[in-house]
Amino acid sequence: MFSLRNQVALITGASRGLGRALAVEFAKQGAQLVINSRAQSTNDLRETEALVRALNAPVLSVIADVSQRADVERLAGEALARFGRVDILVNNASALGPTPMPFLADTPIEEFETVLRTNVTGPFMLTRALIGQMLVRGSGSIVNVSSDAGVEGYPTWGAYGVSKAALDHLTRVWAAEVQGTGVRVNSVDPGDMDTVMKRASEPDGDASQWAKPETVTQVFVYLASNESSAINGKRFQAQNFALA
Ligand SMILES: NC(=O)c1ccc[n+]([C@@H]2O[C@H](COP(=O)([O-])OP(=O)(O)OC[C@H]3O[C@@H](n4cnc5c(N)ncnc54)[C@H](OP(=O)(O)O)[C@@H]3O)[C@@H](O)[C@H]2O)c1
Repeated sequence: MFSLRNQVALITGASRGLGRALAVEFAKQGAQLVINSRAQSTNDLRETEALVRALNAPVLSVIADVSQRADVERLAGEALARFGRVDILVNNASALGPTPMPFLADTPIEEFETVLRTNVTGPFMLTRALIGQMLVRGSGSIVNVSSDAGVEGYPTWGAYGVSKAALDHLTRVWAAEVQGTGVRVNSVDPGDMDTVMKRASEPDGDASQWAKPETVTQVFVYLASNESSAINGKRFQAQNFALA
């Protein structure tokens, strides 16, 4: 694995699923962590915090809703106040929308807007809040968590799929704008994982076919580490990732 020693990583949506797996793996590789969720389930973020602390990683938990501008500004501010910088940002928190997942014609407009605010505007706002201090230092890695639903037009995956397609394009535009600065912006499709979100989307699915989030973390550690300092504007598939 690649060292993240002395790196400060902010991971949104870290109370369970992929976000928790990334927090634990980043801590194992030596990172200092800012972890976040809305804490809808009160103890989950604390459990992630305890797992990370057990690995002797400094950690700050911030309860914030990434779809809300004031929350995002507070999240960024508290992270910078605690650690002085953020080297790695993983925009992982995500909204699926209503379940059972409806056709677009049945999707309430407010729900559509909430999904886009959480999955697109949230990453935009948090990146905007943190990229300046990365540009000043001439280094930083931003990773946006995408989905194949952003590439394929699956029925009933409308709001979510549109949001992930937009997030991929947000990644490409940020990447083009920071090219050559030492800051990089990439996206990762983690593939099917056995998480709360996946089970909510496919309650009758065969969970044994879905990867455990802990098994898809390698590409994220690579993108967070200095090993990937020349990689910008790329889209990775975590379950196909292998180092040459
Ligand atoms: N699971 C899959 O098969 C799959 C496939 C492709 C892509 N993905 C992507 O992988 C990422 C992780 O998904 P997952 O499956 O691990 O989901 P998950 O288990 O449902 O976890 C989502 C996390 O995001 C947090 N969250 C949700 N809305 C938030 C908000 N507005 N502000 C802050 N935190 C928020 C949740 O905590 P609270 O509810 O307490 O806020 C939770 O910690 C997502 O970007 C998802 O789209 C997943």
